[in-house]
Amino acid sequence: MKKLFSVILLLALALVLAACSGSDDAEGSSDSGEEKSENKVEIFSWWTGAGEEDGLLALIDLFEKEHPEIKVENAAVAGGAGTNAKAVLATRMQGDDPPSTFQVHGGDELNEGWVAAGKMEPLNELYEKNGWKGKFPEELIDLVSKDGDIYSVPVNIHRGNVIFYNKKVFEDNGIEEPETFEEFFAASEKLKKAGITPVALGDKNSWPATQIFENVLLGVLGPDDYKKLFAGEIPFDDERVVEAAEQFGKVLDNINEDHAARNWQDSAQLVSNGEAAMINMGDWAKGYFVNDLDMETNKDFGFFEFPGTKGEFQVITDTFGLPKGIENPKDVKEFLTFLGSTEAQDVFNPLKGSIPARTDADESKYDEYGKEAMQDFKDSRLVPSLAHGSAAAAGFLTKANQAVNIFVTQRDVDNFIQALKSASSEL
Ligand code: GAL
Repeated sequence: MKKLFSVILLLALALVLAACSGSDDAEGSSDSGEEKSENKVEIFSWWTGAGEEDGLLALIDLFEKEHPEIKVENAAVAGGAGTNAKAVLATRMQGDDPPSTFQVHGGDELNEGWVAAGKMEPLNELYEKNGWKGKFPEELIDLVSKDGDIYSVPVNIHRGNVIFYNKKVFEDNGIEEPETFEEFFAASEKLKKAGITPVALGDKNSWPATQIFENVLLGVLGPDDYKKLFAGEIPFDDERVVEAAEQFGKVLDNINEDHAARNWQDSAQLVSNGEAAMINMGDWAKGYFVNDLDMETNKDFGFFEFPGTKGEFQVITDTFGLPKGIENPKDVKEFLTFLGSTEAQDVFNPLKGSIPARTDADESKYDEYGKEAMQDFKDSRLVPSLAHGSAAAAGFLTKANQAVNIFVTQRDVDNFIQALKSASSEL
């Protein structure tokens, strides 16, 4: 009897042990001691370093606290606007080695790029499950949709048509925020006479100059014709595009000499230290001013819309999707669900300088700049950014960047217009 009892006990123990190791497997922990790709999410972006990574790190932190079973690997590649990251991503996607999820702008970069190439999974179910359709603005959902399917989750909205300025420099020189180009150029003349660079530019990579040009185009054409231009419905030799090129040249008469040696952060520093007065930069610059340069909104720096673009909002939205062929879609969907939550968006965006993509976020978490941007987003005409990949196909953007780069040094309006016109076959 005693013997029988011991056998039963041993059997029971064996069963318990088997059940334990079975449940380990179900949770994806490794039985060989090696880490499986399951329970690990690799987030790929270009948010590294000053002014860029604070929001990302806060996001990862919060997610790992809420999901201790899933580890996040930060696979960011340095370089503003994704100049290097996009190339690395393309190599990985072509080599069937996609990251679990990657930063991609809504608009053409996502839809005509990765979705059209058949590389992304639709996320309609995730939107249904989380009731997101009423939580993100419809126009934003359109920017991440193709042929009726939704392909990514927007974490933020950056504004591209803002000029940030050094308040003390403006005050010392008796300058008011300019609204028109006339006022802007008058202020620039005054600043030059005082020995101050009116406009800081860092176009080591050409996108910050392209960003100025797209804002001039928006100011001259207005939102409807700006969109028509990139839809191929208005030719690039239209007289208003010529006018915008001339205007762009005049803005470039006011930049720092060493612009080609600087990146966007380096050029923003010129505004911070008072060597330059203004910079046109997306509002990630606000994150940089506040988090890294210890400047205070509306005390050390102010902001106004790019001349001629009041009531318009140049939209740059960072989004994350689900690439086809990854090993652990369940964990990645968990991460994407988190990215789409108000909690995540309100941790990320106050640090990033952007506003939340959701309409029901907690306004009290944002400073005066953020609150104003949220209101403007609701009240403004929204247009997609060219420089950040939303307005036009990547092929056109590459050629437009090259044309802008040449224009910045040569200032030949005819050549510039011809280059843009021939690039428009890529639209
Ligand atoms: C943009 C991106 C922003 C910011 C910026 C500078 O393309 O949408 O989030 O990172 O580049 O790198």
